[in-house]
Amino acid sequence: MANSPPESSRRRVDELTAEIRRHNALYYQNDLPEIGDAEYDALLRELQGLEADHPELLAADSPSRSVGAPLEGTGFATAAHRTPMLSLDNAMDADELRAFDQRIAKLLGRSEAFEYVAEPKLDGSGVELIYREGKFSQGLTRGDGRMGEDVTVNLSRVPSIPKQLRGAGARPPGFASIRGEVVLPLAAFQALNSQRRERELEPFANPRNAAAGALRQIHDIDLPRLRSLEFCAYALAEGKPEAHASQWQSLETLGQWGFLVSPESRVCQGLEEVFLFYRELLERRSELDVEIDGTVVKVNDLALQQALGTLSRAPRWAIAYKFPPEQATTRVEAIHVQVGRTGALTPVAKLEPVRVGGVQVSNATLHNQDEINRKDIRVGDTVVVQRAGDVIPQIVRILLAARAEAKAPLEPYALPVDCPVCGGKTIRLDGESVTRCPNLDCPAQLKTNLRHLAGRGALDIDGLGEKIVEQLVESGLVERLSDLFTLEAETLEALERMGAKSARNLVASLEKARDTTLPRFLIALGIPHVGATIAEVLATEFGGLEPLIAANAPEIEEIEGVGPAIAESVARFFADPSNVAEVERLRELGLRWRDPDPAPRQAGPGGALVGQSLVLTGTLSAPRSAFKARIEAAGGKVVGSLSKKTDFLVAGDNPGGKLQKALNLGVKVLDEGALEALL
Ligand code: IVH
Repeated sequence: MANSPPESSRRRVDELTAEIRRHNALYYQNDLPEIGDAEYDALLRELQGLEADHPELLAADSPSRSVGAPLEGTGFATAAHRTPMLSLDNAMDADELRAFDQRIAKLLGRSEAFEYVAEPKLDGSGVELIYREGKFSQGLTRGDGRMGEDVTVNLSRVPSIPKQLRGAGARPPGFASIRGEVVLPLAAFQALNSQRRERELEPFANPRNAAAGALRQIHDIDLPRLRSLEFCAYALAEGKPEAHASQWQSLETLGQWGFLVSPESRVCQGLEEVFLFYRELLERRSELDVEIDGTVVKVNDLALQQALGTLSRAPRWAIAYKFPPEQATTRVEAIHVQVGRTGALTPVAKLEPVRVGGVQVSNATLHNQDEINRKDIRVGDTVVVQRAGDVIPQIVRILLAARAEAKAPLEPYALPVDCPVCGGKTIRLDGESVTRCPNLDCPAQLKTNLRHLAGRGALDIDGLGEKIVEQLVESGLVERLSDLFTLEAETLEALERMGAKSARNLVASLEKARDTTLPRFLIALGIPHVGATIAEVLATEFGGLEPLIAANAPEIEEIEGVGPAIAESVARFFADPSNVAEVERLRELGLRWRDPDPAPRQAGPGGALVGQSLVLTGTLSAPRSAFKARIEAAGGKVVGSLSKKTDFLVAGDNPGGKLQKALNLGVKVLDEGALEALL
């Protein structure tokens, strides 16, 4: 053949196709992307470029023509979108946006400026909501653009999705298709991730993945997460009132029907106003409570939209004008170590300052030694940093090529053997990712421990703020927690800026705090992993402090909701005689509580699941070991792999392949709620 494309192009198209498909699956099915949007766009563009140069290489099922990922084995019923849910082409810079404007001018044969609607491009999960006779009847994910997953139950828990369209004078349409984005506001995202860290679950990479994951959980297991989602409407695909002639009117109607619509959206006369909008939005990006990654620019006039039409993947009348990626490259100048309340050593990379998504960044958390090893981060490395919803920036990866050019070889990094604050030996327990300074009297810990002990959820001591704690520790008046309860007003008065009245007040607060409860006391001790929930469970299960002090890790782990790491941490704490002595001293100094009534211990065999075998999959609301203990207490058995003989599959959040396998084998699937009911 004379003009057949070179073999290298053919090979590259195959590679790109496979690579893009893999990233689609990671993004849309697993909610765990490996690369950022900018890198993904670069792959897609390279593929589109090659296909444009060699149309013979354009396959009917090329990822450049389709949206999302195939819907196999997701565990949800699927349904067709009446009109496809399209994607958007991207403009990565001003020139590409100008090219878009010129392209449509040419297609329509017009020279005057267009009226556009500019909207924030929300970084969440696109969904379609169907309303029949004004009533919410079905909600679908975008899926592959033609078919979506039916997530009606989950969507019906999202507070900003009206059950009924509000009238606003007009009669509701018989059928309406509303499209918009489900997002997780940043505050909720941060709270969710800190809960996940507390429960030793992998935190979500960004709010978009957390939102998508929430929507695709089996039924509504994690109700609080669904309740914290927001739906923001941006298109009325079907059901427009007769008089509608513009996108702007659609947004107004959606607002009147009771939907949230982005208050930032604007009508722009011509491209210059769009540029202005874009710059202003970019400035304000970090103030918004949801993540946005650009501006969507839409031709306002619906008749013009119609005339321009759509291609298989995206409409011709709209484009996403993307913000610069929230990623940047810089250099690691040093790694510093902070010692936290529980003695955890947290390595922090000091970076050569760089702007990321409009914010100056000079630190990035490295979490722990495992994370450093996994990414092989060394002082002197050139790294990619990103801000992804979390306030604290992260290092995505290192650039190995840059390391090769370094003058001297870079040394792998190891956390210090000695605590940088007190000089004591640090430890790392089996199965834990954290390196700790075990010395409770380490000044770094003592200050944070005192603040923690004084906190609302613990002993709730009024008047023990950061400044006073600092003074108490630095003056040597307090060398361990219990010293706090030996303080007298006269001694306190001698401290700088402490008046007689404040001193008396603090002593009175300390007196009041002596009357407490066992859970609060447990929290106050600052045992790693013991927050409010765990403290409550330990107190009721053991019924008093002595049995808890006497328990070993396996005994503690028997309790529902207590995983191995927590059990180990509690047992270790009380195995240390100095901690027990400290507890004793606190009691001698007047701390008191009434023991709760002990809960009846778990029933022996003979429960609801006798002889049944169960497989657990996906993320459950408590550690698996807790479910295992309860299932076993009810006479059941938890096994690792599925077979025809398995009685039940318990599917949590993001269940993965086991769910499909269970369906194929005819094994009954339970969500967490159904399991609870059985137990
Ligand atoms: S309009 C045919 N408007 O971005 C029009 N989409 O990258 C397509 N998105 O699939 C949708 N904010 O999930 C539109 N204001 C907005 C948007 C928006 C976010 C999402 C949407 C879409 C994706 C394309």
